Amino acid sequence: MSLLTLTDVARAYTTRRGLLGRSTEVRAVDSISLNVTAGRTLGVVGESGCGKSTTGRLMLGLERPSEGSVLFEEQPMPAPGTTEWRALRKRMQLVFQDPLGAMDRRLTIAQQVEEPLIIHGIGTASERAERVAALLVDVGLRADQAARHPHELSGGQRQRAVLARALATDPALLVCDEPVSALDVSIQAQVVNMLTDLQAARGIAMVFISHDLKVVRQVSHSVAVMYLGRIVEQGDPEALFADPVHPYTRALVSAIPVPGPRRIPRIVLTGDPPNPADRPTGCAFHPRCPVAVARCAVEIPQLRTMDDGRDVACHLAEPQARMAA
Ligand SMILES: Nc1ncnc2c1ncn2[C@@H]1O[C@H](COP(=O)(O)OP(=O)(O)O)[C@@H](O)[C@H]1O
Ligand SMILES: [Mg+2]
Repeated sequence: MSLLTLTDVARAYTTRRGLLGRSTEVRAVDSISLNVTAGRTLGVVGESGCGKSTTGRLMLGLERPSEGSVLFEEQPMPAPGTTEWRALRKRMQLVFQDPLGAMDRRLTIAQQVEEPLIIHGIGTASERAERVAALLVDVGLRADQAARHPHELSGGQRQRAVLARALATDPALLVCDEPVSALDVSIQAQVVNMLTDLQAARGIAMVFISHDLKVVRQVSHSVAVMYLGRIVEQGDPEALFADPVHPYTRALVSAIPVPGPRRIPRIVLTGDPPNPADRPTGCAFHPRCPVAVARCAVEIPQLRTMDDGRDVACHLAEPQARMAA
């Protein structure tokens, strides 16, 4: 079942350079359609600035789309701040990169985890205390850490506490925006494992946003690759990482460090990094694309389904040609 459905969603911001500067429109998300399936993890990858965080905020109704629709359980997302939206918020939670920024420094870990239960009027004081204790165990924190304050914990422990709080209201959807990017690599693996275990055990739908392809591959049931506010390739992570079709995905996958010989030779992207304020015509990737043809500078490629079920937005990706190859 599709828990969350984005259809042709765009989000534009108007920015002005300097006091008298001309205002320009930046399309952080250009036109994306996505389904988040109940109980499954959707990975969203792409370089910084491609619109991942904006997509996450659109999914939670923290941002309103400029175009298109966002449906949660087939109902239109209510406007932020309304009673309907607040009621829905306990079913969808956000975890982002900076756990300290997400916490109140004056509250203990137990108080932080209890807070959403109080806000949503869930349980009696003793029921809440019991639930908080269970949640802390679930995320791998010790009982004696409940009385600590955020600055007394390590980064990894703080992110565990933030997760416990996000899980407190038993959400159907968890949007994690670069949840481990600020942590040491050795700690990242532990937090990622805990997250995938909890996701599977509780049957939560998760959207895992990261610029780190290795992590996304590990956690996702489906992966969407974004470039300048659009999805360029989406599908099963095994197929997508073993045999990327879109030239941008190929370049990203070729840059993942691997021991031993590579299946795909390293592709180094040339040209300017993507800038949504200066979007190229046609396929936004064409100025950096090693295989671009004339058509790519003119016509925006739409996502088309390949024979193996994945979607690719590239004029050169031909389902039939791939079958013959
Ligand atoms: N509130 C905003 N106002 C103006 N521009 C924004 C705003 N939020 C994001 N952007 C722009 O939209 C683009 C995509 O941003 P973001 O979604 O944060 O990308 P990512 O998370 O992939 O790094 C960036 O160019 C960013 O500068
Ligand atoms: Mg971001």
